[in-house]
Order: sequence, then structure tokens, then C-alpha cells
Amino acid sequence: MSAAQEIQKPAGSGMQIKAAEMTISHVDKTYGEKQFATEVVKNCSFTIERGKLTVMIGPSGCGKSTLIRLLAGFEKPTSGSISIDGNKVTGPGRDRLVVFQESALFPWMSTYDNIMYGPKARGENTPEMRDRAEFLLDKVGLQRFRSKYPPQLSGGMQRRAELARAMINNPEVMILDEPFRGLDHMTKELMWKYYATLYEESHRTNFFVTTDIDEAIFLADRLLIMSNKPTQVRAVLDVDLPRPRSLSNIVDDDRANQIKMEALAILHEEAMRSFAGGSKAASDFIQAYSDRVGKSGK
Ligand SMILES: Nc1ncnc2c1ncn2[C@@H]1O[C@H](COP(=O)(O)OP(=O)(O)O)[C@@H](O)[C@H]1O
Ligand SMILES: [Mg+2]
Repeated sequence: MSAAQEIQKPAGSGMQIKAAEMTISHVDKTYGEKQFATEVVKNCSFTIERGKLTVMIGPSGCGKSTLIRLLAGFEKPTSGSISIDGNKVTGPGRDRLVVFQESALFPWMSTYDNIMYGPKARGENTPEMRDRAEFLLDKVGLQRFRSKYPPQLSGGMQRRAELARAMINNPEVMILDEPFRGLDHMTKELMWKYYATLYEESHRTNFFVTTDIDEAIFLADRLLIMSNKPTQVRAVLDVDLPRPRSLSNIVDDDRANQIKMEALAILHEEAMRSFAGGSKAASDFIQAYSDRVGKSGK
């Protein structure tokens, strides 16, 4: 990577941020063979831009987690290529870090020890890392809970501890697969704020997958809208809303609502197609969509 490609920014505690860019080019992924073959991703191309927060939204089961496994290097595409700063991805690497919705915290370690796990495992229990841990504990609002064990934390606190635990490893690309799924709505909104703040202080490259349109618009710089399975990008929307983001200035914002309606219209078309194919999830979505469009009056 050339120096010109790097975004070097102090991250609060003085840590340098390296941000990479990922390119997904004509990727296909098929599981199984012959009559048992399932095509999950088809001719899918997009870029995860350097220093931006790219959000991917698409119907349940369309192939988002499959794409994440390919980006992470846990699996290989059937054809096409994935690269990070021009280098082909051939397996997992420390440059990319994936946060899944399932908790990965060690229940026998305190919040602080969970956050320091990565640095300690690499023999980097340095003053700089300990400062960084303090900084992150502050940012995710867990200073008072630093000595508690995961089972003593609420669901939202556990997810915040996970974000801090991932962030301290300073990956060049952070990849998150529906990290807030299953949280109640109020906790989710709080998570958006914490996560947006973490992003806004560092501007590292983030790739965030969700099925929640409000979450997508609150967080995104760019929004990739995916088709049904076999998935590919249906549309890319620029979410040109000011930062720092807050709920009060997104909820009633005309531009935010316009982007939301545009995104919902495309998702609705996709849902109609999978509804035609007999999907129950799609019929629920179509109902919810009609209610929302009816209410907003836009
Ligand atoms: N290892 C696998 N073998 C066969 N089919 C799979 C495999 N992994 C995922 N799929 C299929 O791929 C589709 C997309 O799954 P997934 O990527 O988890 O979707 P999403 O994350 O968008 O909900 C599903 O229909 C699933 O059954
Ligand atoms: Mg998934």
C-alpha cells in the first residue's frame, strides 16, 4: 500500500488509523453441485470505500452473511475476485475484523480484560494499548462496568463491549454482520449513537450489514441495496446527511426521509419478487412497507 493511500489520523488516544479499501468484482458463490447447487451470490460487484461507512441492506436470506464470509476470507468465491488495497484476499487476515451478532465475549473475563484480549494475545500489553482501552471504555460508556463479567451486563452493554474489543485491534476494515439484531428498539437506537460516535472519531473503513432501514440510514455514508438471492447490488445511494448524526436531526429530516422512501421502494420491489416465489418474510415486509408509506404521506 502506498503512503498516499493511507488515511493517518489520530484516534483520540493518539493511535494511528489505517483505512483500506475493498473491491468485490464479479463474484459468484454457489453451494453444492449439479442438481443440489444453490446459487447465493451472482455477478456481484461493489467497492467498500476507504474511510467510509458502507451499509449493505437486503432481504433476509439474500446472501449478505455469505458475502461477509467471502470478504473475511473464511470461504472462497466460486468465481470473481475480492481484493483489499489491490491485494487478492485468499484467506482471513488481521487487516479485516468481523463482528457477528452472536456474542463473542469470554464470560470468564471482565469487560476490561475482554477489551484487552487481542492486544495481550499479541504480547502488546503496552501503555499505548491500555490508554486506548480506557479511551474506548469511555466512548462506549462502560467505565463503571469495567470489572463486571459479561453475564452481569445488559444485552446492549455486551454489544458495546464487543465493539470496543474489536476496535482496539485497529483493523484496516471493520466488518459487522447485523451486530444489533435482537436488541429492543430503544437499546438499538442507543447503539447507533455509540457506534456512529466510534466511527466519527476514527473514520476507519466500515462495512455494516443490516435488514433495518432506519439503522441503515442513521449510520451510512453509502447504502448498498441488495437483490434477493442470488444477490447482487440493486442500487447504491449516497447518504449525504451531516455528521455527527443524532436521532433528533434524522427522524424529521426531509432528506433522510427521501432516501428512506427511495430505499424502501427498491426493497419493496425485491420483496414482491420473492413474495411471488412464496416467501412469508416477504409478505410481512410488504405489509410493514404499506403501513409506513401510508403513515409518512411522502
Ligand atoms: N453452506 C451453505 N450451503 C448451502 N446453502 C447455504 C450455505 N450458506 C448459506 N446458504 C444459503 O444461502 C442463502 C443466503 O444465506 P445468508 O448469506 O445467510 O443470507 P442473509 O445473511 O442475507 O440472511 C440462504 O438461502 C442459505 O440457505
Ligand atoms: Mg445474515
